[in-house]
Amino acid sequence: MVTDEKLTEVDLDRIDRQVWDRYPGDDRAAFEDAIAFHESLPAEKQFATVLEDADGVLTQPRAGVPRLEDQIDLLDTLVRDGNADLLPTTIDSYTRDNAYDEAQEGLERSRETGSDELNGFPAVNHGVEGCRRLIEAADAPVQVRHGTPDARLLAAVTLAGGFQSFEGGPITYNLPYTSKYELAETIEYWQYVDRLAGAYTDRGVRVNREPFGPLTGTLVPPSVAIAICILEGLLAATQGVRSVTLGYGQVGNLVQDVAAIRAMDRLGEEFLPADVTVTTVFHQWMGGFPPDEARAQGVISLGSVTAAMAEPDKIITKSPQEAQGVPTAAANAAGLRATDQVLDMLTDQAIDLEGVERERELIERSVRALVDAVCEAGEGDIARGTVRAFDRGLLDVPFPPSEAAAGDVLPVRDDDGRVRLLKSGNLAIPDDVAEIHQARLEERAVTEGRDLSFRMVADDVSAISGGRLVGRPGEE
Ligand code: 5AD
Repeated sequence: MVTDEKLTEVDLDRIDRQVWDRYPGDDRAAFEDAIAFHESLPAEKQFATVLEDADGVLTQPRAGVPRLEDQIDLLDTLVRDGNADLLPTTIDSYTRDNAYDEAQEGLERSRETGSDELNGFPAVNHGVEGCRRLIEAADAPVQVRHGTPDARLLAAVTLAGGFQSFEGGPITYNLPYTSKYELAETIEYWQYVDRLAGAYTDRGVRVNREPFGPLTGTLVPPSVAIAICILEGLLAATQGVRSVTLGYGQVGNLVQDVAAIRAMDRLGEEFLPADVTVTTVFHQWMGGFPPDEARAQGVISLGSVTAAMAEPDKIITKSPQEAQGVPTAAANAAGLRATDQVLDMLTDQAIDLEGVERERELIERSVRALVDAVCEAGEGDIARGTVRAFDRGLLDVPFPPSEAAAGDVLPVRDDDGRVRLLKSGNLAIPDDVAEIHQARLEERAVTEGRDLSFRMVADDVSAISGGRLVGRPGEE
């Protein structure tokens, strides 16, 4: 049974050798050589420091193309035309599935044809040297963003290649992405990733780690997302990580989103050890986008308003071409500029929203109950507790592609567009919170003159792409 204990140095060395055995390249880097490369980077490229020391909300897009030169150009465009503060490198789907041969074929085809034959940057195939060329060329700190349940080799290569931030975690990159792995397996894989990040940290290279808060991106109750990020933060801290960015995806109701970001900030300080620096990231809307680019800019702007009010440390931006899939560099930069415009216009305004404190309190109590339930289930061990809590549905997410979660919870919006639980299954939230959720939903049922049902849930899931927040009847 997996336990929340720090891997020893002997464990780390042993796993490290196994992991690098699968490396297709011939430029495997020794740890000391990797440390020397990180030490050669200027302060402006140190991810954790730039993020933690920033005054305002930093912007960061998603971006990844197969060829190295194109990725260098793309990141350059995002800094120049989009004023991005932090940069991403989004990894392709084959690499996320550990299918490095297919990634290599896609890369070679992209080189031959001149078109993008992969949906991201195959970092393992570009290898340590390729990653270092990218980091050297980039004008800002760069993070690996992906969606890889078993990210061990990807982490080994990219950290040796100079990246100083790595997204994902054992729960947030399992539940939304795969049905292939048990949670106990992904927890073990990510203990290596975190232990490696911890080993860099011990040597003064503070590798930042970021749980993927939006999970499935579909009506995720804020308390569930925050509790899961805190658990991943705790697991990372055990392995020596000292820079953790908790994440949360916009649900679209301004009060609930501001309350959630504030709650996440406070709970991060409360739950994570004092020697961990906690930052927060807010993701602009992760669900379906309107195909109309003007409307998509509207969705982006509401996310930016939310960020301006709640002041997370960074915001992950979307592009007006979101509905079309991977955006062009120009559209991606446009999303960044739209975000900046709103952030800048709101910076000097103090706006008080009614109800934020009440909502924050509901979220905080729920998160504490969820994290406590995990601790209890694991008899004090949160790795064990995470596995057991998901087994018993004490912790659960809506619509999980993975069998690792029961999927017994059903979210729906209340009359005000806040995400509530229509069905809470065995979820370990306080009874009175569940009752408040039910009462709010009854109000909506009355307003709409229809029963609470799955129909409402389905209407809500497609509402924003259709131009609204709440999926009301007769508004197709
Ligand atoms: N470049 C830019 N954005 C990407 N996304 C996925 N792959 C890429 C890429 N290579 C974005 C999707 C969606 C989010 C989940 O990630 O467009 O917004």
